[in-house]
Amino acid sequence: MSDHWAELLITDHETTEKVFDVMTQALATPEGPTPAMVAMTITYLAEYVDGCHNLKEQDHLFPLCEKRGIPREGGPLAVMLQEHEQSRALLGELKPLDEAYAGGDKSVLG
Ligand SMILES: [Fe+2]
Repeated sequence: MSDHWAELLITDHETTEKVFDVMTQALATPEGPTPAMVAMTITYLAEYVDGCHNLKEQDHLFPLCEKRGIPREGGPLAVMLQEHEQSRALLGELKPLDEAYAGGDKSVLG
């Protein structure tokens, strides 16, 4: 893994932070985000963050870290793997809420 890979992962994180910032701003408005915006955000999180970015880390970055002496268990790699699992579980909870929101139920925003 070269610095180029690290830069790609950092760019992924920055992009995701921008998506969260935009969604946070939309959630703060009286009308809330549009259903399309919610759907696109969930699609981004599921297909790009979970389906691509997290796999880049799990399949390439984390094994490299292990080779360089960071244990997979009981340290930062274990924490990050657990976070990936938690985010996947949260996505599973968001999908039905997205459908309800698209159907006009704004109460799902909480
Ligand atoms: Fe990441």
